[in-house]
Amino acid sequence: MSDTPIPAAVTHEPQAVSVQVTPSAIFIVATVNPDPASRETVRAWCADIAALVRSVGKRVPAGGLSCVCGFGSEAWDALFGAPRPAGLHPFREFGSGERLAVATPGDILLHIRANQMDLCFELATQLMGRLATAVTTIDEVHGFRNFDQRAMIGFVDGTENPTGHEAVTFTVVGAEDPGFAGGSYVLTQKYLHDMTGWNALSVETQERIIGRTKLADIELDAAVKPSSSHSSLTTLDENGEEVKILRDNMPFGRPGFGEFGTYFIGYARSPAPIEQMLENMFVGRPPGNYDRLLDFSRAVTGGLFFVPSAPLLEALAERSPSTVASATDTSESLPSAEALSDGSLNIGSLKGAPQHE
Ligand code: HEM
Repeated sequence: MSDTPIPAAVTHEPQAVSVQVTPSAIFIVATVNPDPASRETVRAWCADIAALVRSVGKRVPAGGLSCVCGFGSEAWDALFGAPRPAGLHPFREFGSGERLAVATPGDILLHIRANQMDLCFELATQLMGRLATAVTTIDEVHGFRNFDQRAMIGFVDGTENPTGHEAVTFTVVGAEDPGFAGGSYVLTQKYLHDMTGWNALSVETQERIIGRTKLADIELDAAVKPSSSHSSLTTLDENGEEVKILRDNMPFGRPGFGEFGTYFIGYARSPAPIEQMLENMFVGRPPGNYDRLLDFSRAVTGGLFFVPSAPLLEALAERSPSTVASATDTSESLPSAEALSDGSLNIGSLKGAPQHE
């Protein structure tokens, strides 16, 4: 699963959230059909996911196959009932008019990564085959690595991602929600780009929009980097400490149809920092000082999901809203949770950030 060392204090192994960047990925968002049999199928499937990843992955040992599975807010209640992850809520929209971070339906997210697309494809086939008629697929995107990890817009993407222990600290739930320790929140958005408009800009103008140089991927000097640049608006400072998220965006598209896109995927320990970045990008910091990348990029989907720890994902097969609805003590109904020893990530004031529902 994850190839990042997990601190000894993390007793609940995360799903494969922080893995090496891979050349291929498949993103599937589906809704669960609203009948009891479909819900039962999805619950039972939770216990099968790890075994399917092992079976498919074993066929190409160096293939780096991994899978992350997350659940949306309404789906959590319908499938598993209480207790629920403290930070899980429906996707919050930001912005308005042409510049809108839109919310779209989604109960289940699959983020499948590997060094080669056949592994992703086979695992997606196996996972979706088990779900069969229990779900309705809303969106499926096959992403590819674009040269030296360049986004569709030609800039290297992912440079400022946290790595190693820092990535775990920023993405894995700990003492703040002990019943869900080892989990993560993940926010996805599918963007379509106006590549004709973007390519008509000079490289210098593009660099001021992103906040980095295009060829060498070096951050612009503070003296010339606009406060509206993408990298400025997505840099969060909390009491002098930077709060990061972990991204694994993938380019995708169909040139024959004039479709050029970026699938944004961001993992964090709480939805708050990702939502604050969206607010900064779409509304602006201060309002009006928005991300000009959005003049050439339109979000056409938006979903927020909770990614249970690996053991909890398996245990969810035994859950149902009726069996746990009366549970008040999460430690009784879930595997006992020793949280991350590091509860120092202070994002309290971000939680109070303006919310657009
Ligand atoms: C159109 C979709 C997007 C594209 C093409 C894109 C592309 C990029 C690029 C090229 C960079 C600079 C290199 C790097 O550090 O990765 C970057 C940085 C970053 N992006 Fe995005 N991005 C997109 C959407 C988003 C969204 C929706 C968020 C958050 C909600 C986000 C958060 C970040 C963060 C946190 C950084 C690092 C900033 C820093 O520390 O300097 N991005 N992005």
